[in-house]
Amino acid sequence: MNILLLGSGGRENALAWKISQSAKVEHLYIAPGNAGTNRVGTNVAISATDFPAIREFALSHAIDMVVVGPEDPLVKGVYDYFSSTSELSHIPVIGPSAEGARLEGSKDFAKAFMMRHNIPTARYASFTAENIDDAYRFLESLEAPYVLKADGLAAGKGVLILPTLEEAKAELKEMLSGMFGDASRTVVIEEFLSGIECSVFVLTDGNSYKILPEAKDYKRIGEGDTGLNTGGMGAVSPVPFADETFMKKVEERIVIPTVDGLKAEGIDYKGFIFLGLIKVGNEPMVIEYNVRMGDPETEVVMLRIKSDLVDLLEGVAQGNLKERVLEVDERAAVTVMLVSGGYPGAYEKGKIISGLDTVTDSIVFHAGTTEKDGRVVTNGGRVIAVSSYGTDKADALARSFANASKIDFEKKYFRSDIGFDL
Ligand code: AMP
Ligand code: GLY
Repeated sequence: MNILLLGSGGRENALAWKISQSAKVEHLYIAPGNAGTNRVGTNVAISATDFPAIREFALSHAIDMVVVGPEDPLVKGVYDYFSSTSELSHIPVIGPSAEGARLEGSKDFAKAFMMRHNIPTARYASFTAENIDDAYRFLESLEAPYVLKADGLAAGKGVLILPTLEEAKAELKEMLSGMFGDASRTVVIEEFLSGIECSVFVLTDGNSYKILPEAKDYKRIGEGDTGLNTGGMGAVSPVPFADETFMKKVEERIVIPTVDGLKAEGIDYKGFIFLGLIKVGNEPMVIEYNVRMGDPETEVVMLRIKSDLVDLLEGVAQGNLKERVLEVDERAAVTVMLVSGGYPGAYEKGKIISGLDTVTDSIVFHAGTTEKDGRVVTNGGRVIAVSSYGTDKADALARSFANASKIDFEKKYFRSDIGFDL
């Protein structure tokens, strides 16, 4: 098969690494990719949302399958673009239709979907500027802290958690008057849930599903989960508290009703579902849906999938996922993200990265990197994910930290406490 993977981050490097190991693959192309994806496939200089250019490339390179990494092309309808264009409709796209992508693209849609299907989630209500007084009243009915969510995509910044009612009301007003542009014209206000979080990934062909290894990511920039939110500073799999009892509840109360609910509503969904979960007491509740794999979770989840990923994706495309086998590696996997100094605030790019070839027993995934004059240089806030296997979490972490120290670039920073709370 010739496969085209869309995206350019650490997640896409991990997906490309796994896809390239399949005997079923002849050519793997990544659009636009990074300096790491180019080592396991061929980068093509096309943006992941430039549908006409993707169409030309898919036709001229006899692409047999498109795998979508990030949410943007999905929310913008890449699945529908392929299925409704006659010369492209034979090429399966791994990812939901635009309607299905609303599970991530609209928090209000996701909450209403969960309500319709009795999926456990925080109590909520949605508001616009027209009914701001009702919104204030709803806030008054809740207890601190207050959770405000921009309905639309806001580059991971659209969730605010406020300690006092006054601050919540003030921020709500800002949000409704365009703090996140159109994304916050509608705001979801919800009850605050207290517990520990984890990410569970599901692959579905629209009828059946496979639950992939779970992971926990570390979103804050500072040690001990302090400071600003980032795209993710590291991840660990397996997650000890996501034991058999917990996962059985996740499957029965969340996975099955989600897959069945999509089907019952006639929503085309053949791809990954990312469940952002929180364990409240002993019960799983949904914090959010994403319609793609997580980053940096993918940099550990791919290590733990023993089976041929392309075989599973083929099962998704052909609607016979049920007949495919998912084998999970029993070892632990971790990843430690090396980031640019200053991130998630302002940071510099173009710093030469050294030591990549000295890494021996970890797997290096590139996130924000590019090639310049034959050298690999930094090109983003999150730069390199150092992933490792181990007999347990500590063993894997020791490898990742040792190799994180061998790779260098100016103002490199990483958290040395990934997995500290597990
Ligand atoms: P989201 O973008 O929906 O994942 O929200 C970002 C983060 O905000 C989550 O990972 C949680 O840590 C936190 N969060 C969101 N909703 C809630 C909630 N209802 N209660 C507590 N924390 C929340
Ligand atoms: N690691 C969280 C995300 O990918 O959204």
